[in-house]
Amino acid sequence: MRAKLIVGNWKMNGSRAANEALLKGIVAGLDNARAVCAVCVPTPFLQQCEDVLTGTPVAWGAQDVSMHAFGAYTGEVCAKMLTEFGCRYVIVGHSERRAYHREDSALVAKKAQAVLAEGMIPIVCVGETLEQREAGETAQVVGAQLDAVLEALDAASVGRIVVAYEPVWAIGSGRNATPAMAQEVHAQLRAQLKARNAEAAEVVPILYGGSMKPENAKELLSQPDIDGGLIGGAALKAEDFLAIIHAA
Ligand code: G3P
Repeated sequence: MRAKLIVGNWKMNGSRAANEALLKGIVAGLDNARAVCAVCVPTPFLQQCEDVLTGTPVAWGAQDVSMHAFGAYTGEVCAKMLTEFGCRYVIVGHSERRAYHREDSALVAKKAQAVLAEGMIPIVCVGETLEQREAGETAQVVGAQLDAVLEALDAASVGRIVVAYEPVWAIGSGRNATPAMAQEVHAQLRAQLKARNAEAAEVVPILYGGSMKPENAKELLSQPDIDGGLIGGAALKAEDFLAIIHAA
């Protein structure tokens, strides 16, 4: 039985003052929530997360990482640096990075390797655009995105990743995938994991992301292969994020 995992992706939002209230609000409202939870925040706020969240059940992480280990890569942040701030998770291959920074699956695979090499957990994002869905290409697109990462990892490392299915057309649009649509893709992703490492497939959480909110979380999270959520907009309000955590 996989524990549910709820991760907030703050994207490029936040300020020191607002974060303080949000993080403390989340911690205060956790009660005995069963879900594992985390926030992935902009890099400048990692220290604040470490200060506020150390000793609480809420983990934290980054939204991107360099594929390089060190050196002359102006503007980049390497995995080792993220470990110095206590990061547990690093999102790689978010569709916003694929779209706005031209990241391809080969690069995403290298980033996942860099994260694993430093003992953190990559949250590997996959997802199709509306055009691809309408052309019937969803299975092929997300399949290729995940395979690129799985092929780059040794079989044991496959069991140390998190996968997030985020249909691009559902992100920030208010239009979530139906539970059945999401489950269909999640089952495919699980089968791909199984083909690579059957034991790992049983433990790797597959999260759904794309307009998950308090109103639809319970139904989405009740699907057999939806093990949690990667939450954007609804992670910016403690009340909404907590409602999703408690729905899990
Ligand atoms: O990574 C989370 C994300 O892309 C979903 O965003 O705002 O639709 O929940 P949102």
